[in-house]
Amino acid sequence: MLARAKVNLYLHVVGKRADGYHLLDSLIVFAETGDDIRVAPAETLTLTIDGPFGRGLDTGTGNLVMRAALALRELTGSKRGAAIHLTKNLPLASGIGGGSADAAATLLALIDLWQVTPERAALYQLAERLGADVPVCLDGRPAFVGGVGEDIVPAGTLPRMHILLVNPLVETPTPAVFKARRGDFSNPARWARPPATPQDLAAYLLGRRNDLTDPAITVAPAVAAVLDAIAATPDCLLARLSGSGATCFGLYADAARAAQARAAVLAGHPDWWAQEAPIS
Ligand code: C5P
Repeated sequence: MLARAKVNLYLHVVGKRADGYHLLDSLIVFAETGDDIRVAPAETLTLTIDGPFGRGLDTGTGNLVMRAALALRELTGSKRGAAIHLTKNLPLASGIGGGSADAAATLLALIDLWQVTPERAALYQLAERLGADVPVCLDGRPAFVGGVGEDIVPAGTLPRMHILLVNPLVETPTPAVFKARRGDFSNPARWARPPATPQDLAAYLLGRRNDLTDPAITVAPAVAAVLDAIAATPDCLLARLSGSGATCFGLYADAARAAQARAAVLAGHPDWWAQEAPIS
């Protein structure tokens, strides 16, 4: 099962909860690229990992995938095992929800394998406990997200667009980025109806921001260079940071332009990670 990368097309920090978590208003979409989760019947629960970013990862309960599997077993009372295999294609701690998408894909794959039917509200509560982005990854559709990630409102069908994801292979841990945030809170800014064309969507998004951009640059100055490199590609409709970074994205009207942009960015920075894909 493809654990699709999540992208925050905009991200406004609109407040802070008493427990220190930040309240957000964000538009999240999914790129047709990501990690891969496979599950097979087994006596016990095990996790194996490979892939370009799989080396050295925890295969025990420190991994969100294992925590998701154990939490689902507890919720449903299932005693079954599973051999879970994760192919880690996305850079770690990179603002495109790799760990969250893996956890959500694990939940969906195991629900199918174990033939269990958890109650929807309980499943989403379990997802929220695993991580702020896990519920929206479970939902898997374009959505406005509020609260700390648990308040999900479907955003409707977006115009077909292509995205270029670029990461300088520097980690920007989410807690450090939120901690570096300064200044006032933003207001929520949602549409009544989805824009019809890529150009309209880009125009709408230009009126929004990612409020974590400056803090992410403080944590990892390379983010500024990534944004500049994406913005310099031909026909780039928008260049922006996703989540707490360090992955940034460019939006393009078609696949050819996105592929051309990827080649241009990697020509200037062969040491960066870059991947293009349709979004939905
Ligand atoms: O839930 P998740 O594990 O993704 O969050 C990691 C950390 O990021 C939290 O412990 C918190 O410091 C910060 N965070 C936040 N507000 C959010 C999401 C995360 O302050 N909405």
